[in-house]
Amino acid sequence: MKFTSQFQFVIFFFVSLTVAHTVPGVDTLQRQALAKRDANLVDAIYNNLKPTDSDFILTHLGNLTNATGSKCDQCKNKIRYARSLIDNQPEKEHLISLLLFKYCLSKNKNKESKCDSKDFFVTTTSKNKEATSFEAGIDSTTGVNFYDNDFIKVLKLFNTSSETDLEYYCYYKESTCKLPKTPDLDVAFNLSSKWPKKDAKHEVAPTFDGNLSTFNVLHISDFHIQLRYQVGSEANCSKTPCCLPESVNAELPTQDYNFTSVYTDIDATLDTFEYSFYPDAHYTSNNSYVKGDYYDLPKSRGYNSNSLPASTFGTYMCDSPEVLLNNTLAHISNTSKNKNFEFTIFTGDLVDHDVVHCDADTTKKAEIRGFGMMKHFLDHIPVYPSLGNHDTFPYGQLSPLGKKYNNTYNWNDALMSDLWVSNGWLAENKRNFVKSHYSGFSTITERGLKVISLNSNCYYQKNLWSYVNITQDYDLFGQWDFLIDELTESERKGERVWIMAHIPPSDFDALPIQSKVFAKIVERFSPYTIANIFYGHTHMDQFSILYSSNGTVPVNMAWISQSVTPLSNYNPSWRYYEVEDKTFNIINSYNYYTQLNETFTNGGDEPEWDFEYSARDAYDPKGDWPSNAPLNATFWDKYVASNIRNESNIEFNQLYADYMFRLSPYVPDCKNGSVISDECYNNNWCTAGHFTSEEFIACERG
Ligand SMILES: *[C@@H]1O[C@H](CO)[C@@H](O)[C@H](O)[C@H]1NC(C)=O
Ligand SMILES: *[C@@H]1O[C@H](CO)[C@@H](O)[C@H](O)[C@H]1NC(C)=O
Ligand SMILES: *[C@@H]1O[C@H](CO)[C@@H](O)[C@H](O)[C@H]1NC(C)=O
Ligand SMILES: *[C@@H]1O[C@H](CO)[C@@H](O)[C@H](O)[C@H]1NC(C)=O
Ligand SMILES: *[C@@H]1O[C@H](CO)[C@@H](O)[C@H](O)[C@H]1NC(C)=O
Ligand SMILES: *[C@@H]1O[C@H](CO)[C@@H](O)[C@H](O)[C@H]1NC(C)=O
Ligand SMILES: *[C@@H]1O[C@H](CO)[C@@H](O)[C@H](O)[C@H]1NC(C)=O
Ligand SMILES: *[C@@H]1O[C@H](CO)[C@@H](O)[C@H](O)[C@H]1NC(C)=O
Ligand SMILES: *[C@@H]1O[C@H](CO)[C@@H](O)[C@H](O)[C@H]1NC(C)=O
Ligand SMILES: *[C@@H]1O[C@H](CO)[C@@H](O)[C@H](O)[C@H]1NC(C)=O
Ligand SMILES: *[C@@H]1O[C@H](CO)[C@@H](O)[C@H](O)[C@H]1NC(C)=O
Ligand SMILES: *[C@@H]1O[C@H](CO)[C@@H](O)[C@H](O)[C@H]1NC(C)=O
Repeated sequence: MKFTSQFQFVIFFFVSLTVAHTVPGVDTLQRQALAKRDANLVDAIYNNLKPTDSDFILTHLGNLTNATGSKCDQCKNKIRYARSLIDNQPEKEHLISLLLFKYCLSKNKNKESKCDSKDFFVTTTSKNKEATSFEAGIDSTTGVNFYDNDFIKVLKLFNTSSETDLEYYCYYKESTCKLPKTPDLDVAFNLSSKWPKKDAKHEVAPTFDGNLSTFNVLHISDFHIQLRYQVGSEANCSKTPCCLPESVNAELPTQDYNFTSVYTDIDATLDTFEYSFYPDAHYTSNNSYVKGDYYDLPKSRGYNSNSLPASTFGTYMCDSPEVLLNNTLAHISNTSKNKNFEFTIFTGDLVDHDVVHCDADTTKKAEIRGFGMMKHFLDHIPVYPSLGNHDTFPYGQLSPLGKKYNNTYNWNDALMSDLWVSNGWLAENKRNFVKSHYSGFSTITERGLKVISLNSNCYYQKNLWSYVNITQDYDLFGQWDFLIDELTESERKGERVWIMAHIPPSDFDALPIQSKVFAKIVERFSPYTIANIFYGHTHMDQFSILYSSNGTVPVNMAWISQSVTPLSNYNPSWRYYEVEDKTFNIINSYNYYTQLNETFTNGGDEPEWDFEYSARDAYDPKGDWPSNAPLNATFWDKYVASNIRNESNIEFNQLYADYMFRLSPYVPDCKNGSVISDECYNNNWCTAGHFTSEEFIACERG
């Protein structure tokens, strides 16, 4: 989930070149040489500038460095200063990224990596740039100017006269300002005027007559295909994601490091086992598993080159190898023979966390593969997708269609509309809509349920574009107006709606004003119209309850799906819902998982999947909740949230955390002395009991 600077990218390119040819056996001397080279490279970029350009940077660097005031003031000053340079010297615009990078370095001596995810980096092309092309800022082969980045464009649209806009930016980008208080949305935007008044009829949830009749819906999320996954590479590396050809652990194994004994330590009870190094393992087009040949990596590497070699089906600090995703989908497809999934919701993130090696082509490749695999294994079962923060390039970026530079990301929406329509998931007449609405859409299922899919990058804190006019315009992307229109229409028709997107509004990553706008929309259209809401993103098995703004009455809730990717420290997992066929309420949820560590030493066999739990069995074991009542906000409040908010109930919090991590070896210990650990408190109660990011952030500890 990390950004990188163009400089980092160049650095990385050199590191990977060197390492790729020398693993195994990167020794200390080589590491020192690489570190030195990285530092020199950064200097080289500056030293190769034209003298007038260097002078420009040095002069303004002096002014920035001399600025006084709090860290918040300095951050705001920096943005205002950069904007005034653009306004006054547009011909020097390409140097502003470099100036701010240099400024960051000057404030973070010997902590260069702190400058990775700051405001000067997002490149439109980044893959395999040679250091030489940097000298001019122009890629010598393509002619692309890679100083021309999103930050500069956003800066031109940014309202630098608004202290609050600057404070949002500086809070999220640098943690230097305090988070501004979210305004009253009716005062700021007259929000309630955007929808018809709610009448008494819409205060009640629809019920069904007669006997319970249900069907099943699959929910999958966060695949994160690691296209460069390499069996045998370092799986316990210093910088996630691991399992890449160049992954290394900064702490070198000692000379007496013995790979075999480390693997034995994973489970001391095992006396015989076989490693799972099958680099060619795959599923054929008729879904049979072919293990391929064993390759003895530990032996070939002399038992001491790496500290933990990546095995066939993945490990806990890496994204999903393709074969794991095929295996998961094959298990789902088999399960569907009995459970008959009628459709699938996929809440985003096909592309992996290897952001430094990403470019638009890699992004497209992961998207085409990922949706292709779903089509192959799920066959006639339609998939309704939402795009995740990784499913675009540059990472997390999306520009508003109503503003300048609005065609920047059309390529992705065009690809999505083609894939989704040609897979038969959306009707032909949705093609143009998807293309011109950030890959969002509304569609009606065969049974008459409306599914609305949104693009959460519209409110993602790492999307630079979402800071444009942040305090003045509650709907920069037009997505809320679209949602309100759809809900108003459905309410009129008595139609029920499911809403899906990638990032939950309760997440730190959801910009607070946007998060609250959504909460207000949900409160207005619940419980009559909005039946359920779905997300992914956190990789954890969670949920969030929306309580009424007038008190503590549960109004609605969001299901947050666990991931298939094991990153970080989770077992791969998926779920399905049993859905009442007239109201589209969810009656129960069922989760499956595979204990990934078992595949490390099972001789390359396929992972074994197990049923994990159902929400009713786990949280209402006595069966108090009526069997035909929905698992709605009242259920989650009564049986789960009320128990986890009780901090002395560590046992219940631990059970909830066990499921959240799918019983992996790395479930956090919720007990910290005699009190609950901060990690469990935040993951459990802060997410479950708070629907907006402002409330979530206020709840967080540690
Ligand atoms: C920064 O401040 C120092 C000390 O006050 C001063 O000597 C220097 O000229 C200033 N530099 C700039 C660029 O303003
Ligand atoms: C930056 O510093 C230089 C030299 O001290 C000064 O002449 C110039 O006016 C300053 N520029 C701005 C925009 O403050
Ligand atoms: C910028 O923000 C200020 C302060 O909130 C506001 O008065 C002004 O109208 C905004 N400018 C634009 C162009 O939106
Ligand atoms: C809010 O919108 C309503 C309906 O459009 C309008 O009648 C009212 O005057 C607006 N209120 C404010 C404070 O702008
Ligand atoms: C519900 O099921 C019972 C037992 O199968 C049956 O007698 C009854 O007619 C059903 N009611 C409705 C409304 O379908
Ligand atoms: C490594 O450890 C295993 C198991 O403890 C042992 O059998 C083997 O001899 C050791 N190998 C080396 C090279 O020390
Ligand atoms: C995964 O499944 C797809 C669809 O059958 C196939 O094209 C691809 O080669 C498989 N890859 C692996 C690694 O199993
Ligand atoms: C995109 O921006 C251009 C130029 O600013 C504008 O003319 C066009 O109407 C915009 N497109 C949309 C869909 O808003
Ligand atoms: C910001 O949003 C407000 C409200 O929609 C609008 O009036 C104003 O023109 C916008 N400012 C810019 C610079 O787009
Ligand atoms: C508070 O809100 C809830 C849910 O919207 C509603 O049912 C209840 O009547 C409200 N209570 C008061 C006192 O307004
Ligand atoms: C949840 O369902 C129960 C049982 O039908 C109902 O009493 C309750 O009002 C519902 N809660 C919400 C928030 O819709
Ligand atoms: C895998 O992890 C689980 C959960 O910690 C543990 O019970 C099991 O023994 C482990 N299996 C192996 C082979 O290490």
